[in-house]
Amino acid sequence: MEDSGSVIRRRVSTRKRSRRSLRETAAAGPLEPGQEQEREEEGTDGRRRRRSESLELPEYDGSEEDMFDGYDSFAENSFLAQVDVLEQKYMQSPEHGIIEKLYSKSTETREFDVIATDSDLTEVKTRDYCNSPETLRLQENVTIEPGDDLLCDVPCSQALYIEKVKDSSNDLNNPSAKESYPLSSHQTLNDIPVEQLQEKKNSSPKHTESDLNRRRSLKDRLKSAMTGNAKAQTPKFSKRKQLKEAILSEEINVAKKTLESSSDDLGPFYSLPSKVRDLFVQYKGIKKLYDWQHTCLTLTCLQQRKNLIYSLPTSGGKTLVAEILMLQELLCRQKNVLMILPYVAIVQEKISSLSNFGIELGFFVEEYAGSKGRVPPIKRRGKKSLYIATIEKGHGLVNSLIEEGRINELGLVVVDELHMIGEGSRGAILEITLAKILYTSKTTQIIGMSATLNNVEELQEFLNAEYYTSKFRPVELKEYLKINDTIYEVDIKAEKGYTFSRLLKCKYSDHLKKMDPDHLVALVTEVIPNYSCLVFCPTKKNCENVADMICKFLNKDYLKHREKEKCDFLKNLKNVSNGSLCPVLKRTVPFGIAYHHSGLTSDERKVLEEAYATGVLCLLTCTSTLAAGVNLPARRVILRAPYIATQFLKRNQYQQMIGRAGRAGIDTVGESILILQEKDKHLVLNLVNSPLENCYSHLGQEITKGIQSLLLSLIGLKIAKNLEGIYHFMCATFFGIQQKRLSEEKSLWEICRKALASLMEKGLLQKRSVCKNEEESQCELQITKLGQASLKGTLDLAYCGTLYKDLKKGLEGLVLESYLHLIYLTTPYDMVSQCRPDWMIYLRQFDHLNSGEQKVAAIVGVSESFITKKASGQAIKKDVDRNIVNRLYLSLVLFTLLKETNVWRVSEKFNMSRGYVQNLLNGAASFCSCVLHFCEELEEFWVYRALLTELTKKLSYCVKADLVPLMEITGVLESRAKQLYDAGYKTVTHLANADPEVLIRTINHLSRRQAKQIVSSAKMLLNEKAEALQEEVEDLLRPPSDIPGTTTPSSKNHELTQ
Ligand SMILES: Nc1ncnc2c1ncn2[C@@H]1O[C@H](COP(=O)(O)OP(=O)(O)OP(=O)(O)O)[C@@H](O)[C@H]1O
Ligand SMILES: [Mg+2]
Repeated sequence: MEDSGSVIRRRVSTRKRSRRSLRETAAAGPLEPGQEQEREEEGTDGRRRRRSESLELPEYDGSEEDMFDGYDSFAENSFLAQVDVLEQKYMQSPEHGIIEKLYSKSTETREFDVIATDSDLTEVKTRDYCNSPETLRLQENVTIEPGDDLLCDVPCSQALYIEKVKDSSNDLNNPSAKESYPLSSHQTLNDIPVEQLQEKKNSSPKHTESDLNRRRSLKDRLKSAMTGNAKAQTPKFSKRKQLKEAILSEEINVAKKTLESSSDDLGPFYSLPSKVRDLFVQYKGIKKLYDWQHTCLTLTCLQQRKNLIYSLPTSGGKTLVAEILMLQELLCRQKNVLMILPYVAIVQEKISSLSNFGIELGFFVEEYAGSKGRVPPIKRRGKKSLYIATIEKGHGLVNSLIEEGRINELGLVVVDELHMIGEGSRGAILEITLAKILYTSKTTQIIGMSATLNNVEELQEFLNAEYYTSKFRPVELKEYLKINDTIYEVDIKAEKGYTFSRLLKCKYSDHLKKMDPDHLVALVTEVIPNYSCLVFCPTKKNCENVADMICKFLNKDYLKHREKEKCDFLKNLKNVSNGSLCPVLKRTVPFGIAYHHSGLTSDERKVLEEAYATGVLCLLTCTSTLAAGVNLPARRVILRAPYIATQFLKRNQYQQMIGRAGRAGIDTVGESILILQEKDKHLVLNLVNSPLENCYSHLGQEITKGIQSLLLSLIGLKIAKNLEGIYHFMCATFFGIQQKRLSEEKSLWEICRKALASLMEKGLLQKRSVCKNEEESQCELQITKLGQASLKGTLDLAYCGTLYKDLKKGLEGLVLESYLHLIYLTTPYDMVSQCRPDWMIYLRQFDHLNSGEQKVAAIVGVSESFITKKASGQAIKKDVDRNIVNRLYLSLVLFTLLKETNVWRVSEKFNMSRGYVQNLLNGAASFCSCVLHFCEELEEFWVYRALLTELTKKLSYCVKADLVPLMEITGVLESRAKQLYDAGYKTVTHLANADPEVLIRTINHLSRRQAKQIVSSAKMLLNEKAEALQEEVEDLLRPPSDIPGTTTPSSKNHELTQ
């Protein structure tokens, strides 16, 4: 018989080993996965059976594993029974002291966490007792290896952690780090010098417990250990998961301490658990940080938690640094994090990519975009949250945290594309958000990043931030210009800013020359179909025309490239387009070409981007929608003209567009070609060579969305109470800083005074009655009910008065026969001015309304005769409010959309682009929820509350009710929701528990990456919901501290101390 067969080894040193049943452990020698091994086991008839068993251990699947596999360890003839017999004999024999020694040895060593050496083992084996026949029999089954035995009472997680810690300390190769782990002394037998062990043993204090243990029978102890193991190995949740969590939480604790100690030791991975490093490899394919990323992460200012702005060229890898900083905050400092991104699509992409990290590392990823995102956020006691938000939603979130006195819960705010602070009303909202955080929380760190910053000092002053920059770009980007048929290379050292590079090789027929005077076909065919190409066009229509034109001149070979995949993709495109297919795309996709702009639905854009990312499509003609922050492959970026619509490109815009070429990890080379006409030649030097534009605050320009909205919230949120307080706040804003520098005619004080006066005129603020006679600067201000409602509704203050009047008028005779009247009241005002009704369509749609719905038109002030006259081109004498007429037209679009739930059909009916219709719907959903919050603050509008709650839901998910739960999952749009629903995945829970591999097999056109992202997003959503409910339950059951007639422990203490 082999020696190994007679040895009990209870190693819990690897995950797989820890999962073995005791029977396996007891009977086998050292087991290696995959190894075939003969094993002997005791049958119930007392005879031994030999069986061959594959030791390839299955993946642990939770609680179902039968630990003893039918083997009764306490029965007669069982292993324990034998131990008992032996024990009885030996306790009576003169040598019984040996057994006692064996007991005490194992007890002692366990107490000091030291593993016995080989020499101990030899010692035990060579004792006399081992030679007795009974002992031999015991030894056949049971050779106690003290070192291993020591671990039998150690929970598996701890044993695993011991090993894990050892691994990571080895990884770190840092002696101090080893010391910092309390259990790192758990080395293998050979690692520990004998003298050291001897020393430890000698210095071991004798405990009375060991005496007690000595008296316990071996059988009892084994029994209890086995029972313990049995219990331990039948957990409610997956043991593997528990082990992982135990390791992780220990690592996080260590990391937390390391971070707090601010020593040079960075922990396994920038103060984070080594698992984070693995996740970056696994999910992002990033194995090593760039030097600049390492330098940036180890900046002293970051260790001191100072604010930081960092700027690197496009594709420099800025995101990774921000992500590591966010994880440090979530895991080590245990604070929530807000990440602000510019577009809904980018927010969704980020949610999908970080959900895996959240699930593996134990934090929530919450979406704040469109109509998603709870305000105020749920206060979570356990795990922390990463809020990923658009600029507008981020502002709402910050307001709610300030109002609730919870702003300090935000440990870190990260702003991507920080240069957007200088762009219109969105820039103003971003500035307001950051200014409020800076003013109200001294502990929240702010990190901003961008590829296109110039006046950094002003931004630094505003954000009180340090600055880091580098010119690093992992993939070199070559810039070219094309004038006529010559290509020039941009060369800032040259006088003109460019030097000759080559002549374009192209044999153009007269017809082709006429159709393609800019040689686009020649330029793109140098790259496609093997590499990808983006062509930026000035307008949406131009995108479509260019895509169409290029295809007309491509030879048939292009059709053959990835033909089947393109054919599949077209089917998918048709599927996401409700069975319709855009005629342009139908023509261009077979060539691997498509257009991309805001006239497409978000479903279409998403699938087009995916097809382009995987190379099924090799060319996208696009507007600036794909210009910033997007990570798509592009060997070559062509700028069709240096214009966006009719505006000459700004340097920043140019830089962002060309920056889409040569993305790290996707492409190894990148180049851009700007097509110029002779007339624009003189402008080019500025475009390619001048410094980036400065960003300027838009707070002062955006009166109602900017400064007035800020001042209202300062009073409403009690950040300031009078003009003096407001001025103090304003001095620290980006606007305030620039105002000082630029010393414009009006002083900041005057601007603030004027804005306050306007707010009071609008009835949004008022002076407190007590201070009527005080000096103006000291006079306390308070927010009115209307002001509070406008603040809560995050309304553009230009419309709050009109909204109030419209709602008030609605109360006089709200038509509830259909949704039309309510829809009219919640149609966004800011979309009305751009609306140009088609009067024939207006009339046709009006005719389709029933009498109750036509009454709505009359109530709001649009008569049938007006529409008829307009449709027939007659002159109209009576003055009619165009805003109302246009608003009703948009309401009809939305009303039809709610009825038909088909963007395509509605866009055809109203002759609008499907993207515009979808955009209108999204705008209406957001505005409806704003109106709801507005009404919640005004008692007189109580009736609207329930009605608008329902309507917000309907507008947010303008799909069949069954699909709504699935569409709550980030990245699941209507067409995907339909597919999933039809395949039987009807709820978030179905998807959270789905196997991505099964999903790929059952859902058409679903890639592995997408399947995994859907499952992890669903898991994340489910976790969030479950935890929110649990917390609600806890809140509900927690006895209030102020129950009359009872004394709470804290008040008792208080009494005692008094
Ligand atoms: N250390 C690294 N090793 C390999 N690839 C990396 C590394 N860091 C980042 N990347 C990859 O580089 C690409 C570009 O990174 P990222 O999106 O962060 O660029 P960026 O600096 O934000 O550019 P932009 O200003 O255009 O948004 C990504 O695909 C990212 O995964
Ligand atoms: Mg970026």
